[in-house]
Amino acid sequence: MKALSLPLLLGAVFFTHEARAQASVKPAAAAPAKFEQLARTPQMGWNTWNTFACDIDEKLIRQAADALVASGMRDAGYVYLNIDDCWHGERDAKGFIQPDPRRFPSGMKALADYVHARGLKLGIYSDAGAHTCAGRPGSRGHEYQDALTYAEWGVDYLKYDWCDTEGLSAPGAYTTMRDALRAAGRPILFSLCEWGNNKPWEWAKDVGHSWRTTGDIYPCWDCEFNRGTWASLGVLPILDKQANLRKYSGPGRCNDMDMLEVGKGMSEDEDKAHFSIWAMLNSPLIAGNDIRSMSAATRKILTNRAIIALNQDERGIQAWRFMNDGQLDMYAKPLAGGEWALMFLNRDDKPRRYTFDWNAHHIVDEISGSQVHFGKQRHGYTDLWSGATGDTARPAALTVPAHGVVVLRLQHQASGS
Ligand code: GLA
Repeated sequence: MKALSLPLLLGAVFFTHEARAQASVKPAAAAPAKFEQLARTPQMGWNTWNTFACDIDEKLIRQAADALVASGMRDAGYVYLNIDDCWHGERDAKGFIQPDPRRFPSGMKALADYVHARGLKLGIYSDAGAHTCAGRPGSRGHEYQDALTYAEWGVDYLKYDWCDTEGLSAPGAYTTMRDALRAAGRPILFSLCEWGNNKPWEWAKDVGHSWRTTGDIYPCWDCEFNRGTWASLGVLPILDKQANLRKYSGPGRCNDMDMLEVGKGMSEDEDKAHFSIWAMLNSPLIAGNDIRSMSAATRKILTNRAIIALNQDERGIQAWRFMNDGQLDMYAKPLAGGEWALMFLNRDDKPRRYTFDWNAHHIVDEISGSQVHFGKQRHGYTDLWSGATGDTARPAALTVPAHGVVVLRLQHQASGS
């Protein structure tokens, strides 16, 4: 680490002095930028925080890597294995961060090798302030050193938090780390975790690949869990905070609704709805349950490839609520190839029967320019949870479970079919 990074650092210092000495000469180097080709569709993976918080070590990470493979999650797209807060030890005498020697005795490079050997990528966590949210060393003042360290270890993903940042400019702090990652040279996906405090959707599209839009998630349908100075939010409160953000989402940049709570205690219908909402709204799909011991039902939800395909659609258009009827919300998402996804979301405590008349709706997306009239252009559809099929020649008689969804994928049928 030191052999590689010190000369680079000295080079950076020298360059700064040189640049000062030649202040009238404009540097020819291109402006730093994020790595553009990462996360063209929302990133998918697993993260330690929701289940394990600070109780993590290298054995858990290896087991999680094995579980991602054995469960079929990797093959369904979950390739990032992300270590959240609390992996840190001390900084060494030169300021380089070390992993906690008790919990990660083999070191991060060895762990990255283990993860990479299984076709996965390794994510790590830091914070723009001097301390992380759990009080570990943050990156403030060490951004370039930390980026070099992550690159040297073989890290592929950085989640960058916002604790202990009083007085800091969010665009400034995140841009500094983006530039540090770029300077370190290894393509590292940059996930901003600033909770939406400084409207990152307005300034972060050239800084990172995703930005959290809200505070932390909590595994409940429609609750807020008070934690004193802040509250964690259930599925519906997070959903409702996304209403005006869809225009900021697109390939390579997305609104992050926080990690998934599928398999963490909600009902099966709630889990299906939570997963479908995150997929429809183009949020990263980062599982947070204990994937080593999950039930078959949880695994089936997380690996529903038809739902995942909506999230990973190449157009990257975030769904919007095009109508609602009482407690029933209807969301639409235009897809590649002129296809559409519709999600009927029942917020209510009891199941809802609903007949959707295809003739009554001309759906127009002002942001992407897509529009469709299912009554006039006959479409066939598949219910992505039940597998049932139908077409838009007749009204759809739906039963949407309590706290649940029906998600349909529609494809235009050539006339005469
Ligand atoms: C913040 C983040 C969480 C998690 C914790 C770790 O609360 O929003 O996602 O990373 O910090 O301390």
